Amino acid sequence: MSTSSRLRFGVVGVGVIGRLHVQRLLSPDSPADLVAVADTSLEAGQAVGAEFGVDVEPSVDQLLGRDDVDAVVLAVPSGLHADAAVAALEAGKHVLLEKPLEVTVDAADRIIDAEKRSGKVLSVVSQRRFAPENQFLHHTIASGGLGRITTANIEIALWRSQEYYDSGAWRGTWALDGGGALMNQGVHLVDLALWLLGDVEEVYAHSGLLAHERIEVEDTITITARLRSGALLTFLATTTAFGDLPLRVAIMGDGGTAVTLAEKFTHFVASDGRELPAFEPADQQLGQLTDFVTAVQQGTAPLVTSAQARAAVAFIEAAYTSARTGRPVAPR
Ligand SMILES: NC(=O)c1ccc[n+]([C@@H]2O[C@H](COP(=O)([O-])OP(=O)(O)OC[C@H]3O[C@@H](n4cnc5c(N)ncnc54)[C@H](O)[C@@H]3O)[C@@H](O)[C@H]2O)c1
Repeated sequence: MSTSSRLRFGVVGVGVIGRLHVQRLLSPDSPADLVAVADTSLEAGQAVGAEFGVDVEPSVDQLLGRDDVDAVVLAVPSGLHADAAVAALEAGKHVLLEKPLEVTVDAADRIIDAEKRSGKVLSVVSQRRFAPENQFLHHTIASGGLGRITTANIEIALWRSQEYYDSGAWRGTWALDGGGALMNQGVHLVDLALWLLGDVEEVYAHSGLLAHERIEVEDTITITARLRSGALLTFLATTTAFGDLPLRVAIMGDGGTAVTLAEKFTHFVASDGRELPAFEPADQQLGQLTDFVTAVQQGTAPLVTSAQARAAVAFIEAAYTSARTGRPVAPR
């Protein structure tokens, strides 16, 4: 590929995760180029510009107005994703949007409407799908390797300190974080669960704020769900597990069972005799960036579509409604 046909990116929002996008786009393995960054905090933008030697635009509009920017990574607080994504799509840019798609289904739908009008590619970061172990699990389930799936048990039990929640005014707020352990951290495994197991019919949840103060949202939630396939799911998300437990995904079917801990198989039995391959280490975020670039350049769908990212938000919104009302809720 000639240099001129490489996709040229801007990064909007260069906080904790935006900086990592900048680094990845500048790395020797990057499938694309980085042209400029913008942040509503000019100080944050200039610090990244100086550190990495990239152009800093004084406003997001100015970045979006550049003809030499084909695509943007949006890494702003979650409740600002719709405003940022709609503006970028209307400016004719392809969009790789940080998770979650948005913090409500209504806001997510604004993005999807703008995506359809624009004809541009939009994908949402959900890097765990790019772990080779998770791709193998997806392929195994889809090809019937575990038989009919009956049950799944998924846990994301992490530790986030009080200082973490105090580190940004948007963290732990309904308006901008959209929720706590489930919307912020848990969305990764919600997306994984829906990708592996399919649509959800009904969700029932309990939530609590158990080990933090001065935040509006939950730090712990337990969910049971009935899937359209008939399978039953239990899901735990918490940021109260000091020391972090490894992410745990257990899938049970009448033709096999699989467990991963921290995305490594600790158990795999398939009645058709298939075995685990050797897995090579992979950079999940680079895998997703490459998938996005390929989708733009070849006109294919990205692995994580906006419709799938919306389903994760709908699942989470249903869980919050259930926890609040004490009733089972069907995702919208
Ligand atoms: N994929 C992952 O594993 C992962 C990890 C962390 C965060 N995230 C997501 O990334 C997003 C940002 O999280 P963070 O931890 O980097 O937050 P952060 O607060 O560290 O950074 C956000 C940055 O956006 C800037 N900003 C705010 N409003 C803006 C606007 N309208 N336009 C331009 N810039 C604006 C802020 O000044 C700040 O520099 C969130 O949606 C979060 O859910 C994803």
